[in-house]
Formats: sequence, structure tokens, C-alpha cells
Amino acid sequence: MGRLAGKRILITGGSTGIGEALVARCVGEGARVAFCARSAEQGAAVAAATGADYFACDVTDAESVRGFVEAAAERLGGLDVVVANAGGSVGFAQWPDTPVAEWRATIDLNLNGTMFTCQSAWPHLRAAGGGSIVVISSLSAVMAVGRDQLGKMGGMQPPPEYQASKAAIDGLMIHLAGRGGEHGIRVNSIRPGRILTDKLLGLFGGDAEAAIFWPHYRELQLLKRHGHVDDVAHAVVFLASDESAFVTGQILNVDGGAVAHL
Ligand SMILES: NC(=O)c1ccc[n+]([C@@H]2O[C@H](COP(=O)([O-])OP(=O)(O)OC[C@H]3O[C@@H](n4cnc5c(N)ncnc54)[C@H](OP(=O)(O)O)[C@@H]3O)[C@@H](O)[C@H]2O)c1
Repeated sequence: MGRLAGKRILITGGSTGIGEALVARCVGEGARVAFCARSAEQGAAVAAATGADYFACDVTDAESVRGFVEAAAERLGGLDVVVANAGGSVGFAQWPDTPVAEWRATIDLNLNGTMFTCQSAWPHLRAAGGGSIVVISSLSAVMAVGRDQLGKMGGMQPPPEYQASKAAIDGLMIHLAGRGGEHGIRVNSIRPGRILTDKLLGLFGGDAEAAIFWPHYRELQLLKRHGHVDDVAHAVVFLASDESAFVTGQILNVDGGAVAHL
């Protein structure tokens, strides 16, 4: 019996990186999983490899999310767990040269996409008599970067709209935890630190030590190694499972001790 045996889990952004690891881990723990992404090719590959169900969906579009959630709930026979993972940064322009279009696009992806997912799934969690929502925030929600550190990050500081949207996700989580308690719906946030996904590793020719942001995080983290996708997936499994049945309204930093070190 896996730790998620019998759970019906919906995951956004499950085709690469952290989400892909999460789909595989949840299936491995005995859950039935439906996930979305925009790229059908990559989605189909993950579905074939894991046995999870893939649905095409753009989380910035409320109707697209509603369609995905309804189709997933029908396929799985209901929902017990929702993981709002899809996210990222649409642009990388540095402050104060932030184009309005980039600001809006990243807020749309991270904050609005998370809200649409939680809103559409809420009635299904109510119908199940409770459940667990996990939103994926970021260390960026609380990490200020001065000019001295920017050099060590190779200029790869997340832009202001990314930081603002992730901090807002934590605020949304607190609101939903407040509203969910009476219905047995737990809502928690995970703040990954820098996680070395295959996509990021590819930028550095597969050499983790060559990652231009590594000097910054090696200094910042208490644990002197890269964060891996499974580090985040393991934390999500805990919050999705009944092992965390008395945990709600919490932020779990999965960052090698970076926040503790600040
Ligand atoms: N990696 C890190 O260091 C790190 C650190 C802190 C927080 N995070 C957060 O962790 C989450 C996953 O990050 P990651 O590094 O694993 O990213 P990733 O490898 O770029 O994966 C993003 C996933 O979301 C999907 N996606 C992107 N835009 C979407 C949209 N509009 N609608 C539906 N799906 C969409 C992507 O598929 P398609 O492109 O095909 O849609 C993909 O499946 C994000 O919320 C990110 O902000 C990551």
C-alpha cells in the first residue's frame, strides 16, 4: 500500500521538471493522477511513462482550467488532492525596465492560474468531504537580491513579477486555508529554493557545477548541494497524504535551509 493509495490527484504543469517528478511520485505512491500542460507531445510522453492521465490546458485561461478540472474529476471519479504547480517566469527583464506585458503574463500564469485551479477544484473537494490543496510558491517570495549577490547569480534574478506573484500565492493559500477548515479542506504552500531541473541543467551542458547561479545558492543554503525535483515531490507527497491530516495554512520551505540562513 502506497502513502497515497486511493487518492485522486490533480496536478497542473505535470509534463516537465518538478511537476513531472510529482506525477511519477504520486503514481508510485498508489494515487490515480490527472495532470495538465500545454504541450501535448510532452504530456503524452509523461502519461505513457507513468500511467497518469494527460489533459491539454492553459492555466491562464479560466475556461480552459474549468474544462480540465471537470474532465479530470470525471475520469478519476472525484478529487481528493489538488497541486497547483504550473508556473514560471514569462520574461526576465530587470527592474525598473519591466514591460507591462511581461508583468501581466507572469501574474496570469502564477497567481491567476493558481486561483483558477483552486476555484474550479473547490466544489469537488467539498463533494469528497474534504481534501488537500498544495500550491507551489518559491523562495523568491521572500528573497531580496542586492547588486553584490546579482553578480553571483549570473544576472539570473527572478524578475519582480515572479517574486510578487509567488508572495501573492502564499496570501491566497492563507485565505483558502481559512475558508477550507470547516469543510476539512487543508491548504498548504511549498516554497522550493533553487531546484536543478533537467531544463536548467541543459542550459549548462549537463554540468551542475557550471550553473551560473550556484555560487549564490551555495553561499545562501545550509545544505551545500543542489535541490532536486524529488526533494519537492517528497514534500508534496507528505502534504497530500493523511500523514499531514492536522496541518493546514503552512508554508514548507524546501530550500536547503536558505530561508533559515537569511
Ligand atoms: N525550478 C526551480 O528552481 C523552482 C524554484 C522555485 C519554485 N519553482 C516553481 O515550481 C513550479 C514548477 O517549476 P519547474 O522548474 O518544474 O518548471 P518547468 O520545468 O518549466 O515546468 C513547468 C510546467 O508547467 C507547464 N506550464 C507552463 N505554463 C503553463 C500554462 N500556461 N498552462 C498549463 N501548464 C503550463 C509546463 O508545460 P507546458 O509548457 O507544455 O505548458 C510544465 O509542465 C513553478 O510554479 C515554479 O515557479 C521552481
